[in-house]
Amino acid sequence: MSNVEIPAGLKELLQGYTVEVLRRKPPNLVEFAVQHFTRILENQRNEQQARKHNSKPVGKEVTFETVSNKSNENDEDEDEEVKETPRSRTGRSRRVAVCAEAYDPDDDADDNTEPQVVHPKTDEQRQRLQDACKDILLFKTLEKEQFSEVLDAMFEVLVKPQDHIIDQGDDGDNFYVIDKGVYDIFVAKDGASVCVGKYNNKGSFGELALMYNTPRAATIVATEEGTLWGLDRATFHRLIVKNNAKKRRMYEAFIECVPLLNCLELSERMKIVDVLGVRKFNDGDRIIAQGDKAECFYIVESGEVKILIRTKTKAGQQDNTEVEVARCSRGQYFGELALVTNKPRAASVYAVGATKCLVIDIQAFERLLGPCMDIMKRNISQYEDQLVALFGSSDDLKH
Ligand code: CMP
Ligand code: CMP
Repeated sequence: MSNVEIPAGLKELLQGYTVEVLRRKPPNLVEFAVQHFTRILENQRNEQQARKHNSKPVGKEVTFETVSNKSNENDEDEDEEVKETPRSRTGRSRRVAVCAEAYDPDDDADDNTEPQVVHPKTDEQRQRLQDACKDILLFKTLEKEQFSEVLDAMFEVLVKPQDHIIDQGDDGDNFYVIDKGVYDIFVAKDGASVCVGKYNNKGSFGELALMYNTPRAATIVATEEGTLWGLDRATFHRLIVKNNAKKRRMYEAFIECVPLLNCLELSERMKIVDVLGVRKFNDGDRIIAQGDKAECFYIVESGEVKILIRTKTKAGQQDNTEVEVARCSRGQYFGELALVTNKPRAASVYAVGATKCLVIDIQAFERLLGPCMDIMKRNISQYEDQLVALFGSSDDLKH
């Protein structure tokens, strides 16, 4: 046997297939093998194709700096600064991507065997990390203990201008939360790379490939020096993906009853559940302030909100009197107008009694709610009618 040569990659291929069989427990192993290996072949072809087209918007392979916990700058022993490429950070070989629709968050039986990851941090780092994570929607439905495990596992990444944090088509290694910096989002369309948006000093990205085991759906490029917090794939699976299974059970029935989302496929509605966060408000809390920049969109889960608009004086100056123009209750949405029109918030929104809202951030809104745009546009024309009825003109809507 000693002179039998094992082809490179054979072991990984068979291991990949075995892992998928154990995870998905298919009734017919041969049929599943055909599907599994066909998918790998298709991925290989797509990758070759993508390489040919070279979809990178700005050509440069990144070297990230992963920052260790340096409590004392002069302490040589603690100076563990590591430089590694994004792909070598996890030490994993490329993973086989599987189809998003086949994904079942309950199905990740192997995650419990992963050890808990802890990256020690200084007080200053922990404070910055907590600030960066406090509004991250994916973390909003975690129990306190799980959230603290996530914070322990996160590691600091320093980036330079033009660094590619993520390249479309790659396999997912980490999820990222922005501490600081501006990051462009590029998506390949008809062979060209198109900038579809940006993250400006806040937010998070890189959840899709980890949630659905799909190739990276966009390229993320730093436009200036910045800092990110990374969360490794295994911890993301163990805590966030598991939590998504719980979220799906909790919100599946409610989401089915939201009229706006009726035009979506079930799988699309479930993707909305995966990325949504939950926020609770007390009576009188201001949820949206007129004139602010918009970052998210809301659906009322329980309670009620009232929508108020500042009136204008005869001279066209805004005074501070607010007039109620509408209310929204369970299943209704608000905060879409600024996202659709790309303008500041057109009204202020306040909680009436204890109110719970589901929240979707702007990137997920743009990615997932495209098919609902027509319905939203219909509602927007009603806002104008409301304003005309109340003020005799809809100028307040036009900033
Ligand atoms: P992922 O596919 O893992 O890696 C690229 C990330 O870009 C993706 O997760 C999202 O977090 C983020 N992203 C932001 N906007 C888009 C978009 N329009 N399409 C796809 N991904 C996007
Ligand atoms: P947005 O402008 O993002 O934030 C305020 C929200 O109030 C707005 O989106 C709409 O969802 C909602 N709204 C309801 N009625 C009106 C109205 N007549 N004018 C403006 N906004 C309204």
